[in-house]
Amino acid sequence: MHKEIHEQTLTIKNTLKGRSTESSVLLHGLLEYWEEIYKAEKIYITACGTSWHAGLIGKNFIERFAQIPVHVEYASEFRYNHSIMDNKTVVVAISQSGETADTLAAISKANDFGAITIGICNVPGSSVSRETNCGIHTRCGHEIGVASTKAFTSQIAVLYLLALKLADSRKEISKSEMKKYLMRASGAVQKDIKALFRKEKSIKKIAEKYQNASDFLYLGRGLNFPVALEGALKLKEISYIHAEGYPAAEMKHGPIALVDKNMPNVFIVPKDKTYEKIISNIEEIKSRKGKIIIITDSKDKILRDLSDDLILLPRTNQYVFVILATIVLQLFSFFIAVARGCDVDQPRNLAKSVTVE
Ligand code: G6P
Repeated sequence: MHKEIHEQTLTIKNTLKGRSTESSVLLHGLLEYWEEIYKAEKIYITACGTSWHAGLIGKNFIERFAQIPVHVEYASEFRYNHSIMDNKTVVVAISQSGETADTLAAISKANDFGAITIGICNVPGSSVSRETNCGIHTRCGHEIGVASTKAFTSQIAVLYLLALKLADSRKEISKSEMKKYLMRASGAVQKDIKALFRKEKSIKKIAEKYQNASDFLYLGRGLNFPVALEGALKLKEISYIHAEGYPAAEMKHGPIALVDKNMPNVFIVPKDKTYEKIISNIEEIKSRKGKIIIITDSKDKILRDLSDDLILLPRTNQYVFVILATIVLQLFSFFIAVARGCDVDQPRNLAKSVTVE
């Protein structure tokens, strides 16, 4: 798992490689169906586990850039829901392995309804690759660790490209904006991830401090809500500590009842439009004596004052921030699990590929 976390400087580069020019996105795997795809009236994204979290980030990207309504559903639910689909609907199935039974069942349902199915998957030749109309491979190399890490960030990179390409074809974005977003995608990520790994020792130290906690809350807003969900899932999967992810503001509608002096709360705090609001969410937890761990790209004193521990990320844009915060949380879970003597690569009761429904 540690090796796969570190591979992310290269895997994201591989995912992006050759898939854009200066101001346009090239996704050859979608070419045959592109006309129907970009004219879609709505999109469903369906997946399980970590891939479902990537789907939530994809929804944010697509709605923001391309202005197409997106619904994200667990594949196991999508199968039985009364989804409204026809040939103007696109269904994007995300799966690292390409063999998850629920996701395959969701694809089969979408195909029966005549929707256009796109697979985002890491394994060429897998069932997802074969059973969707078209697709994009994440190209991050074989992922062995049961808890997904590098596949997740590559899925995010692919969804970013897909959202920009949709926006371009639908004329929702100017060429100069495309240029700006694509330039940021390629160069910045690798450099920032490398800078982040230089902080690994301090992340380890913080993780070890909290190794005996029995419950964690992970809180973020907007794009960082799915990051919070993924951080909590990663911790559960490999350290067996109970953890929940929530939109930061939603914490006051229930989860706050759990907070006491023993409860660590991980806040993901980019300096964006929700910054002031999230600070008041942090203050609410602080006043109930909860422990505060902050992941941020802001050097503001108020965050240092409010936090018990703070991980400062390089100043970047909001899309790269999502990747960086994710990697911090992967490392954080990894070091807690190792400190607790858990087998991080083969966690109990979990399988890399779940082929039963
Ligand atoms: C299993 C794995 C998870 C993974 C999920 C979906 O539960 O342990 O790490 O996120 O399946 O897998 P997929 O291959 O479809 O992305």
